[in-house]
Amino acid sequence: MRGQSSILRFCYNTITMKITEDIKYVGVNDHDIDLFEGQYVVPLGMAYNSYLVRDEKTLVFDTVDARFGEAWLANIRSEIGDAPVDYLVVQHMEPDHSANIAAFANAYPSATIVASVQAFKMMKNFFGDDYASRRLVVKEGDTLSTGKHEFVFVAAPMVHWPEVIVTYDKASKTLFSADGFGKFGANDVEDPEGWDCEARRYYIGIVGKYGPQTQALLKKAAGLDIARICPLHGPVLDTPESIGHAVKQYDTWSSYSVESPGICVCYTSVYGHTKAAALKLKEMLLARGCPKVAVSDLARDDQPEAVEDAFRYGTLVLATTTYNMDIFPWMRHFIDHLVERNYQKRRVAFIENGSWAPNAAKVMKGMFEKSKEIEFVEPVVTITSALNADSEAKLAALADALVG
Ligand code: FEO
Repeated sequence: MRGQSSILRFCYNTITMKITEDIKYVGVNDHDIDLFEGQYVVPLGMAYNSYLVRDEKTLVFDTVDARFGEAWLANIRSEIGDAPVDYLVVQHMEPDHSANIAAFANAYPSATIVASVQAFKMMKNFFGDDYASRRLVVKEGDTLSTGKHEFVFVAAPMVHWPEVIVTYDKASKTLFSADGFGKFGANDVEDPEGWDCEARRYYIGIVGKYGPQTQALLKKAAGLDIARICPLHGPVLDTPESIGHAVKQYDTWSSYSVESPGICVCYTSVYGHTKAAALKLKEMLLARGCPKVAVSDLARDDQPEAVEDAFRYGTLVLATTTYNMDIFPWMRHFIDHLVERNYQKRRVAFIENGSWAPNAAKVMKGMFEKSKEIEFVEPVVTITSALNADSEAKLAALADALVG
């Protein structure tokens, strides 16, 4: 999907970027992070975006991760010198954006902090200060004028925390979208896979549980004339094509709709026999005309990537071993990730292996007990140690059922 978004490139940390005459990028790129949010590998790094609006009053959208406070404040100073900032808008209190609120408040003692009432409660918890003497509490529909620019605040609860607001600037038709429309990857590294792949892994992993709330935000955004989207991670989307595409993808992801034709096969394997069955099934599916079979080894491949694939395709095949009369730990971990993100509207099939008492299919099926609109595809394929003629025939029957 390369080229669908305008990937703005920024130099490392201290170079700002013009978005419009009045709006400047003052965020930072992180190439040192090991795990984003403590669990996501980000081979292309991470961007913590922040935006400065120069008007009769000067306004900044959001701070950055704790490790980049000095670089971020230097970015602001490089734009406005020693002039004051009048407002800091805090759209989201997760520390990748909020960690430098106290540093900002010290650097700009006359600035007003603008946020939702829930955000100020969180500030008290994080920093011991809710800025009672210098704050502006905003809610859905409230506006703030800085001169030429008039900002409208829009509540976006659970996209991705409860206190989140997004902000629409009527003058520039810019939507400052907080975590929405963000992606993994620093902005000074071109993503060879374009916007979709790491935006999808980001959305499904981080916001995936909150589909209805994301749908509600999309409905509000549909009423706005949007010329650009400025998220808190990833590139600014500033063409009709990139905005239209991102909104379409968010609609698909947040409604739990199937995005692409194909089948996702996820397995764990202790000595290779279950893996052999998963790969044999892939071969059979492709031979029957399935356009794409995405296979993941849940012990060795990136699990958030496997979760992303499970949501991307309409059919999921799970293959694992019976283990302590339960299932192999990585498979349990994986299904937990699906279920807690409200996995639904999918077909699911099972391959189980067990040398003396195969039980894995029953356990896996039970884990989807509360999931909505899951169709279990028969037959369940049972392997008692290694594939044989009987289990291969069952695999073929499953391939027929999945592709037919
Ligand atoms: Fe980018 Fe929910 O923080």
